[in-house]
Amino acid sequence: YSSLGVVTSTSVGMDRRLGVIAEILSELLGLDAVYARNDARTRREVGLPTWRGRLIGEAGPTAQIDEGGVRFEVDVIRGQKTGFFIDQRENRLLLQRYAPRGGRILDLFSYTGGFGLHALAGGAAEAVLVDESDYAVEAALRNAELNGLSGRVSAVRSRVKEFLESARERGDRYDAVVVDPPALVPSRERLSMGLKTYVAVNAAAMEVLEPGGLMISTSCSQFVDAGRLRRVLLTAASRAGRRVRFLGGVLGQSPDHPVDPLHPWTGYLKGFALAVE
Ligand SMILES: C[S@@+](CC[C@H](N)C(=O)[O-])C[C@H]1O[C@@H](n2cnc3c(N)ncnc32)[C@H](O)[C@@H]1O
Repeated sequence: YSSLGVVTSTSVGMDRRLGVIAEILSELLGLDAVYARNDARTRREVGLPTWRGRLIGEAGPTAQIDEGGVRFEVDVIRGQKTGFFIDQRENRLLLQRYAPRGGRILDLFSYTGGFGLHALAGGAAEAVLVDESDYAVEAALRNAELNGLSGRVSAVRSRVKEFLESARERGDRYDAVVVDPPALVPSRERLSMGLKTYVAVNAAAMEVLEPGGLMISTSCSQFVDAGRLRRVLLTAASRAGRRVRFLGGVLGQSPDHPVDPLHPWTGYLKGFALAVE
């Protein structure tokens, strides 16, 4: 991120090399500091210690980045994952391009406002961001300010389920909605339960969309492939009493998150853009 590097290791071998990796990265990329985010769940599962901290350099843990003309502050220690969900970059840029001009956008599971702010940059009038994390909501408001968009953004700290229940009761309607939850199927054993949650949240999101509204819905669960997500969305549409049309093909992760054909689960992020009649 700008002049900050972040590394994540998930094995003992890589742990042993982290110091030298940080030095090489710093030299090659001219970084002010390199941080480690070694707090992935997978580390805990294999008995490796979890920790976050600086490996090399003096700079603090925040940086400002520019993604397609929209600025974000990234905190590599307080933020989730390595600070920013870079895997969704191309999908945020897609929304910037196709956001309904003058429309109202609902960004569910918004984190620091990525999709919502891109929609505003693309000509939407107003964005409502919903996330359960205090950090995410505070950072989203700072990012709105950074882009001179404060007056057009509301950030709500709430669980999405509860937010959508009250939105439906109030009769709120949006011109576009983004559904980007965390992995709702974290293990094979939780597939059936997780798929039900995907259906429920997508159906509830469709219910607050204006007829003809745009929806972007994604899943970052490695156990949910594109075919499954497509069926989830069709089931959700039928539950919400809405007809959907798929726009373009399957959305995926940014090209800097390569997919290894020998390990197909490395292609964990998939999504669809839909018109919801
Ligand atoms: C995959 S990230 C979203 C990334 C975001 N769309 C972006 O482009 O940066 C998922 C987010 O959902 C939030 N979250 C998880 N469970 C939630 C819930 N039940 N209700 C609201 N937010 C939730 C997390 O705090 C996290 O910020």
